[in-house]
Amino acid sequence: MNKKILLGPFKQILPMTGLSLKGALVDSALPIYEDAGILITDGIISALGTFNELLHQNKGIEIFHLEGDHVALPGFVDSHTHICFAGSRAKDYALRNAGKTYLEIAKAGGGIWDTVTQTRKASQSELVKHTVKLANRHLKNGTTTLEVKSGYGLTLDEELKILRAIKEADVNTSADLIPTCLAAHMLPRDFEGSATDYLEGISTLLFPRLKEEKLTRRIDAFIEESAFSKAQIAPYFQKAREMGFDITVHADQFTSGGSEVAVAYGAVSADHLEVSTQKEIEMLAKSDVIATALPGASLGLGCGFTPARHLLDAGAALAIASDHNPGSAPMGDLLTQASILGAFEKLSNAEVLAGITFRAAAALRLADRGQLQVGYLADLSIFHTNHYNEILYNQGNLKPCMVWKKGELAFNKN
Ligand code: NIG
Ligand code: FE
Repeated sequence: MNKKILLGPFKQILPMTGLSLKGALVDSALPIYEDAGILITDGIISALGTFNELLHQNKGIEIFHLEGDHVALPGFVDSHTHICFAGSRAKDYALRNAGKTYLEIAKAGGGIWDTVTQTRKASQSELVKHTVKLANRHLKNGTTTLEVKSGYGLTLDEELKILRAIKEADVNTSADLIPTCLAAHMLPRDFEGSATDYLEGISTLLFPRLKEEKLTRRIDAFIEESAFSKAQIAPYFQKAREMGFDITVHADQFTSGGSEVAVAYGAVSADHLEVSTQKEIEMLAKSDVIATALPGASLGLGCGFTPARHLLDAGAALAIASDHNPGSAPMGDLLTQASILGAFEKLSNAEVLAGITFRAAAALRLADRGQLQVGYLADLSIFHTNHYNEILYNQGNLKPCMVWKKGELAFNKN
């Protein structure tokens, strides 16, 4: 028996369809359904159109009737987070604001290593609980799919613990969690050997386990002076590619170089890019790599934003993600951060909304979400307002009043 439900009427539905994956977008290109409804069959969108027509064509089915003005968008996709961790780094934040740099704190034993120490002490079930709590907060704020990285374990067993926790958390939240292995986050301070030895050990011992346990299909690395160099990461990515993993890169955050590796290895995305120059921008724009801005990291560190305007003008595909993590990006509010990036970088509403919907879905290679169209998941972010412009204008302060995930009501403010 099919479960059918008609949802509406909406003042506006923004399906985010028919827009190019790459390059600049103008608001006038946004398709809009007015006085519209969405027909959902078994969690999948089966029709979109005028509410009254859908009502007429589907007599007798269940109706979820909306009172007042509502605007529907695709459920947001956050393609870069680190929400599986333990502990706080409020101390780092205070130190940074008192003048210490992120790299100075890292060198003194704080930074990522601090979270590694705290996460290693946590049990798998504690990590599951915390990850579910954060994922549910994102879900309430309209994000129905979140990527979640490991990278706070940095040994074979500890990375496995985190990736198993992400898998278990996925079962315990309505949001979809997409796991990524970030064992190449930094060289663990307690590892006896070189960076090359560490990466070699991870790729030969951990990669096959990831496949066996179906823990992830994505491999990430932090290419940076404080983490791994281009030369060190080359054989690691080579191995990942041979084994059929998708590659993604923490690139050009403090020093450039990572985006070049992303392009060379056909990465699905290059994320951060705060210090990318015209050379890197053009290289990314010519490639199929999705350039991902992480305004939450700029806000957390108090540094410049990714040159999003230049990336789009050069023809790149721009996703926007929260980078939610305890160190550089503790806020974890995608809509607020994307709105602020839009204001600073002069992005159209279409570009910002594309960055947190279908362009982010492409960065995760998910072809069933990020747009509202027949055959796609009924993942919806619904706002109590009469015009989509109000959403980014409120800079994150207008939260969704309702969130649907796979045709089920996952959050309802009323
Ligand atoms: O994306 N840049 C490296 N990794 C994270 C930060 C992780 C942390 O500080 O704990 C990031 O910003
Ligand atoms: Fe990150």
